[in-house]
Amino acid sequence: MLDLFCCQGGAAQGYANAGFEVVGVDCTPQPRYPFAFVLGDAVSYVREHGAEFDFIHASPPCQAYSATAVLWDNAHPDLIAPTRAALEATGRPWVIENVAGARGEMRNPVTLCGAMFGLETYRHRLFETGGGFTLDAPPHPAHTVPQTKMGRRVEPGTYGQFVGNFIGVDLARAVLGVPWMNRDGIRECIPPAYSEHIGREWLRGGVTPGPDRPARV
Ligand SMILES: C[S@@+](CC[C@H](N)C(=O)[O-])C[C@H]1O[C@@H](n2cnc3c(N)ncnc32)[C@H](O)[C@@H]1O
Repeated sequence: MLDLFCCQGGAAQGYANAGFEVVGVDCTPQPRYPFAFVLGDAVSYVREHGAEFDFIHASPPCQAYSATAVLWDNAHPDLIAPTRAALEATGRPWVIENVAGARGEMRNPVTLCGAMFGLETYRHRLFETGGGFTLDAPPHPAHTVPQTKMGRRVEPGTYGQFVGNFIGVDLARAVLGVPWMNRDGIRECIPPAYSEHIGREWLRGGVTPGPDRPARV
C-alpha cells in the first residue's frame, strides 16, 4: 500500500500489522519511518505512481484545521481537495485521514476513537474513503475518563491528549503504540490501531466488487 504524507509512520505501522507491504512518501526526510520511504511531494507522487498500488492512505497536513490553528500563521495550504482529486484519478481504493476540525472539507467521514481499540486516549480522527472502499467503525464507547488539559502532565486517572509541546513522550509512545517516534511524530500521528482496523476491513472485503476488483475474503 502507498502511505502519503507519511511522517514517522503511525498509519504505516498499522497497515503493516494488518499484513501490507508499505511505501511512504513525505516532503521532509523521515529517518524514523520504519518502511520503504520516498522523499517528494505526495500529490505529484500519487498522480504518477498511485495506480501501481493496491490501496492508498493519505494524511494531508492538518495544521490548518487543528484545535491549535489559531496559533499558526494561516499559511498552511488546504491539501485535502487536491489529494482527493489525485486519489480519484488512480482508480484504486483510498482513505483520507484528518482531524475533527477538517470535517467541513471531508465527505461523509467515519470517526475513529482510541476507546474503540482499548487505547487510553481518545484522539478522534476522521476517515473519508473512496475508490469503492467503504469503512465501518467499531462501536464508539462513551468517554468516561477525564482528559488532562493540553500542555499539562498526564495525571493518574486521566487520559493525555499529546498535542503541541505535550509533556510525557514515553507515556505517549506506550499509549499510542508508537515506541520509535519522537514528540514531533507523536503529535502528528494516528495510532497504528486505527489503520490496522482499516487495513483489515479492506482485506476482509470492505470494497465494492468491480470487474478488476474482486471481493476479498
Ligand atoms: C499529519 S502528518 C502525517 C501523520 C502520519 N499519517 C502518521 O500517522 O504518523 C503530515 C505529514 O505531511 C507532510 N507533508 C506536508 N506537505 C506535504 C507534501 N506536499 N507532500 C508530501 N508530504 C507532505 C509533513 O511533512 C508531515 O510529515
